[in-house]
Amino acid sequence: MVAGARRHIRRRLQGLRHRGPPARAQAWPGRLLHGLSVPLVVYALIRNGDATGSLFKPAELREELWVGGLLGLLLSARLAWNRWGDGGSRLPGDGPAWERRLARWAHRAIYGLLAYLIASGFAIAWLRPGARIDPAALFFASDSLALNIALDSHAAAGNLLMGLLALHIAAAFWHLLLRRDGVWQSMLGGPFSGRRRPRPPAQT
Ligand code: HEM
Ligand code: HEM
Repeated sequence: MVAGARRHIRRRLQGLRHRGPPARAQAWPGRLLHGLSVPLVVYALIRNGDATGSLFKPAELREELWVGGLLGLLLSARLAWNRWGDGGSRLPGDGPAWERRLARWAHRAIYGLLAYLIASGFAIAWLRPGARIDPAALFFASDSLALNIALDSHAAAGNLLMGLLALHIAAAFWHLLLRRDGVWQSMLGGPFSGRRRPRPPAQT
């Protein structure tokens, strides 16, 4: 009974596997830009304005502006590389349609949320000096409607981005462990990156 269920699950998992050549490797600029954006985004998420209390500490707010500016440059370079260089998703074209659609929208949403976080962060820093803020309020904490909108939407975008990044990392493991299509290796390196996977021995 248990052995039968195990065999059934193994067969279902094998059915998910990609057949055909693995994903083409990203060139070094794509990998470098992805690799640099990971620590910077994690830093921005951990040392966020809520954690540092930067609404009341100009030095912390200035540091966030530097991180946001740097992230903006990285994001622009990455989008330019995707548009005019050899970047972009390496998802093999023969995968299921839902996988391609989900990946496309998740990547667009990550770029869009990052751009929004940077823009709203700059708006917060610009609007902050003229406003009075109630440190105890959760929402609509200031007497400026524009600042309230910037603050609350910034927080919502930050939380959404964290959820999407969790999905993104789960998707990377989906490609590594279940689909085995070389998408993980195309961005992160490892065995078989950019090369053809050795064929399994012929079945007799
Ligand atoms: C452009 C520079 C940025 C500035 C000046 C800035 C400023 C702030 C401020 C003042 C807060 C506190 C809001 C509050 O207490 O209600 C905050 C919260 C936050 N920021 Fe930023 N930020 C910037 C960029 C970013 C970026 C790039 C990210 C993510 C990649 C980010 C993620 C967050 C998160 C997750 C929160 C906490 C939201 C919550 O309370 O749940 N910020 N930011
Ligand atoms: C935390 C910050 C991260 C951000 C902002 C991020 C963002 C992105 C974006 C937007 C793409 C789309 C491809 C492109 O436009 O170049 C991508 C691709 C990729 N990422 Fe991440 N990523 C992050 C972390 C990670 C981590 C931790 C992993 C691995 C566990 C990972 C694995 C991958 C892989 C394998 C691809 C290639 C997907 C494809 O070719 O379709 N990423 N990343």
